[in-house]
Amino acid sequence: MQLSRALQCQGFGSRKACRELVRAGRVAVNGAACLHPDREFETERLILNVDGEDWVFRAHAYLVLHKPAGYECSRQPRDHPSVFALLPAPLVARGVQCVGRLDQDSTGLLLFSDDGDFIHQHTSPRRAVGKTYRVTCKHPLSDDMLEQLRRGVLLRDETSPLAARRCVRLGEHELELTIAEGKYHQVKRMLAAAGNRVVRLHRSAVGGYSLPATLPEGHWQWLDAAELEMLRSAPAEV
Ligand code: URA
Repeated sequence: MQLSRALQCQGFGSRKACRELVRAGRVAVNGAACLHPDREFETERLILNVDGEDWVFRAHAYLVLHKPAGYECSRQPRDHPSVFALLPAPLVARGVQCVGRLDQDSTGLLLFSDDGDFIHQHTSPRRAVGKTYRVTCKHPLSDDMLEQLRRGVLLRDETSPLAARRCVRLGEHELELTIAEGKYHQVKRMLAAAGNRVVRLHRSAVGGYSLPATLPEGHWQWLDAAELEMLRSAPAEV
């Protein structure tokens, strides 16, 4: 692939801007300076360097962000900063999208990708990928509330009850809940329907992939092949 094209598809600007970046001497490839935007390179194991920062070429981007509270999952946020402000500019420019959303006040595991098939697979109701949440509630959790969540609660505008795939009490006010769907405010509405109220919501896992304990709030990292495989599997039992 031509160098200027490789830079462009990684999100470093328009084709013209990328040609100028190269001509200005701001780009190195696999450790060597290159002033020729039309030079061809293998994309396999290609390491671009722009303004002194290495950037591994990836045909598609798959990443996880530890979302803090107070960020909206939108490119045009209304009342709070956007989660995209937490990603480097080239990732935003190459068009990564949120794979499923979290509310502004929710925290935890948020996936991004620019691979349309991947996004579809992980958000399609037919695939029913499990999403696991740690939920803190305002009122003590009774056995009856947990039973309602397991059996299913009917939410407004839904035609059939939505049941937790898994529901485990962690404390008097805390539970771990896995749901198969991704409906609007689903966890908050399910808890409200069961007679309680969510005060904190943290997504800890998607499929069998858990938010890495080493990833601080507000930070992101690439997903490797093993992690992508975990996303496809069922959540681990606690
Ligand atoms: N359910 C909710 O109510 N909010 C979220 O952010 C995610 C799931």
